[in-house]
Amino acid sequence: MRFQGKVVFITGGARGLGKALAKAFLDEGASVGVNGRNREALAGFEEELKGSHVLALPADISNYEEMSAALKKVIETWGKIDILIHNAGIVNPLSPSEKMKKEDFDRVIDVNVKGAFYVLQIFGRKMIEQGSGRIINISSQVALFGEKGFLPYTISKAALNVMTTTLAYEWSKHGVTVCSLAPGFIKGGMNEGLIRKQPFVDHLSGRTPLGRMATVEEFVSTVLFLASDQAQYVNGTTVVMDGGMTGYTQEPLLDMIMKGK
Ligand SMILES: NC(=O)c1ccc[n+]([C@@H]2O[C@H](COP(=O)([O-])OP(=O)(O)OC[C@H]3O[C@@H](n4cnc5c(N)ncnc54)[C@H](OP(=O)(O)O)[C@@H]3O)[C@@H](O)[C@H]2O)c1
Repeated sequence: MRFQGKVVFITGGARGLGKALAKAFLDEGASVGVNGRNREALAGFEEELKGSHVLALPADISNYEEMSAALKKVIETWGKIDILIHNAGIVNPLSPSEKMKKEDFDRVIDVNVKGAFYVLQIFGRKMIEQGSGRIINISSQVALFGEKGFLPYTISKAALNVMTTTLAYEWSKHGVTVCSLAPGFIKGGMNEGLIRKQPFVDHLSGRTPLGRMATVEEFVSTVLFLASDQAQYVNGTTVVMDGGMTGYTQEPLLDMIMKGK
């Protein structure tokens, strides 16, 4: 029960990876506020966990007023906020950059960059007032090296990593620490569609030295570790959880030489 008595707020917490995180925090004794835009998914989640310390808070993270109302409700209900997991995020429809639609680019920046700032400012301000708080931002491995077809998404996650560092510079003196987690490809969440197609699983698995995608459980256990007291000194940085994928090439030079290519 690492999070007994703690109040946690998870953006995008009613489905995908955020839902797995919410359940894990509840199992470890926390009171959990879950946010998202889909009211049906939120109501369903609240119903599924009836009787536990869960509160569904519908809000679009790119709407400042809605997010402010979500924080207000958390404070009215539990009186404080200990841990913010900023997990909500969207990906752009895959497209070469020269053909990227302006509206698709703008939407990703509105949600993943402006929305992230709104969430972090609203919750961070309250944490500063309290003199304590822990923030974990869910970034992505693609922020480190880019990924063809995902320009706005990669920009947005790189922005989140820089926000993480800057906010830690500014807020650590107030007792508020911030870090990011940059996962590689996970077998769940936004990849649900892809992982039903074996060629994609093989391709993504082949891109890591471990030869497989990450499990949802591995993602959850890493986030919970970062949110725990054991990881207090991890601050202002991006922790990469990608099975060794960053910088890895499937057929390194040495293998080619050995095969006499
Ligand atoms: N799956 C992966 O392999 C992977 C890898 C690296 C990083 N990530 C990151 O992990 C996070 C979770 O991804 P996922 O795989 O679980 O994706 P997902 O299944 O598509 O879930 C996205 C979540 O974000 C919420 N959301 C989206 N736009 C929102 C908005 N404007 N306001 C409030 N909530 C919003 C969604 O809820 P509603 O639809 O109800 O709004 C949903 O709960 C994302 O930040 C993603 O970039 C995922």
